Amino acid sequence: MSARLPVVVGNWKMHLSLDEAVTLARDVAERAPGGVEVGVAPSAPYLGAVAQALRGSRVGLSAQDTHWEAAGAFTGEASPAQLKGVGCRYVIIGHSERRQLFGETDAGVAKKARAAHDHGLTPILCVGETLAEREAGRTLAVTLGQLDAAFSALRPEEAAASICAYEPVWAIGTGRTATPEQAQEVHRAIRARLAERFGAGVAAQVRLQYGGSVKADNAAALMAQPDIDGALVGGASLKAAGFLDILRAASQGARLP
Ligand code: PGA
Repeated sequence: MSARLPVVVGNWKMHLSLDEAVTLARDVAERAPGGVEVGVAPSAPYLGAVAQALRGSRVGLSAQDTHWEAAGAFTGEASPAQLKGVGCRYVIIGHSERRQLFGETDAGVAKKARAAHDHGLTPILCVGETLAEREAGRTLAVTLGQLDAAFSALRPEEAAASICAYEPVWAIGTGRTATPEQAQEVHRAIRARLAERFGAGVAAQVRLQYGGSVKADNAAALMAQPDIDGALVGGASLKAAGFLDILRAASQGARLP
């Protein structure tokens, strides 16, 4: 029986005003159920204010991206040391929007994953295929290729402490969710690849989130799959009530010994 604690993170992307972000953070902090690890990822300008709103709660702060250097002349970027300093526990790395719109590469993801661990942040490493890649039968080739790169610079104990989010690009923000069986098939393949690379003991510890149109009404069926250990939630994390429903589904689906 697995002892993986489910982990659900709300990716707020470039949404919300400062007041809305702080209010939402407070609501989630006050009402998050036990039995699930929870994070929220506000836009970078709100990290400090949201850190304050979460203070003393079990909800962790996440950044949406990081640079790999600790400091330097990189206009527009934030370093992992700065993110840690402002109170982040997690950082999302390699989100498909970064890959598709902002030129994120597998090599960059590998460096950022390394840097996250160097600065005590838990990386949420995102992988997943586009619709064209799925239709061409390349789902596992693409996803496992991204996975290999993302974990390439990590030691086994760092791999074990990382989170990987499988997010099929065709399911993100589209209202089209992978079926629990489709998601489980890829999650199982991801865990098998991690086992090949790092050993079965490490692979059994890595938490694998599903992401892509997760909502209150589909969360329970996804979380019930043996290799799905939580969710990375975009649109449905922007309202406290819906996000809390997803947290409850994850908490009830927890397969704790
Ligand atoms: P979505 O986004 O839940 O709005 O599909 C998920 C994500 O991009 O992480």
